[in-house]
Amino acid sequence: MANAVTTLTFLERKRSGEKLTMITAYDYPTAQLLDASDVDAVLVGDSLGMVVMGLPSTLPVTMDDMVHHTRMVSRGISRALLIADMPFLSYQVSPEEALRNAGRLVAEGGAQAVKLEGPAEKFGDAIHRILNAGIPVMGHIGLTPQSVNVFGGYKVQGRDAASRERLKQEAKGLEAAGCFSIVLECVPADLAAEITASIKIPTIGIGAGVGCDGQVLVFHDMLGWGRARFCKTFADARQAMRDGVAAFVAEVRAGAFPAEEHTYK
Ligand code: KIV
Repeated sequence: MANAVTTLTFLERKRSGEKLTMITAYDYPTAQLLDASDVDAVLVGDSLGMVVMGLPSTLPVTMDDMVHHTRMVSRGISRALLIADMPFLSYQVSPEEALRNAGRLVAEGGAQAVKLEGPAEKFGDAIHRILNAGIPVMGHIGLTPQSVNVFGGYKVQGRDAASRERLKQEAKGLEAAGCFSIVLECVPADLAAEITASIKIPTIGIGAGVGCDGQVLVFHDMLGWGRARFCKTFADARQAMRDGVAAFVAEVRAGAFPAEEHTYK
């Protein structure tokens, strides 16, 4: 089994050029599976709201939801770096609340780092408070789903010159604020590559092209169990599960299950 992954591993990988991998998890069995699969980092994303809780966006996800799921995931992790998302309104109100909530994800949930959306220009004080308490922070810019109502939908960011420039500055700002890594979501590949080359901390892309230092995907989407339109499906888990459930229903109805070997004597 590989050594435990830390935030220092992230920085080493930036230097060595070896790509980083991150996948979301929301429960114990998924965490165990990912930890055993050599993925570098597991993210308890606030995508929890849409992927697992059936909500229309990430906005209604609460701190209690995140702590609950981070706790489940942390029980299944012994090697990968465990990062938990700070949900909507957990860090925007004040740096004090941001620190208290980041602390909950670590102390109650078992996370080793937290991720928050937006630039240091807005959340630099919150980032400093969290870092000063010894909690590493991952940034997240581009399409930041907690701001979906400002963007007017889930749209690619950084399409015009002004927003390209803004995203470049935001990446540098988060690096200067002390983030150990930045997620770049839904930005043009050439811009993501430019940002990646311009900073010394690793970028983790989702819908941001091959030029990032690593890639993150939502577990359910990459296995064909979710609904994301642009995600590559690496295995058709939905079909495999449907087939399994259909076989159970058919065998019970036919009296073929349970057989002798599945019956206590
Ligand atoms: O919430 C989430 O799953 C995320 C990833 C898509 C990066 O933030």
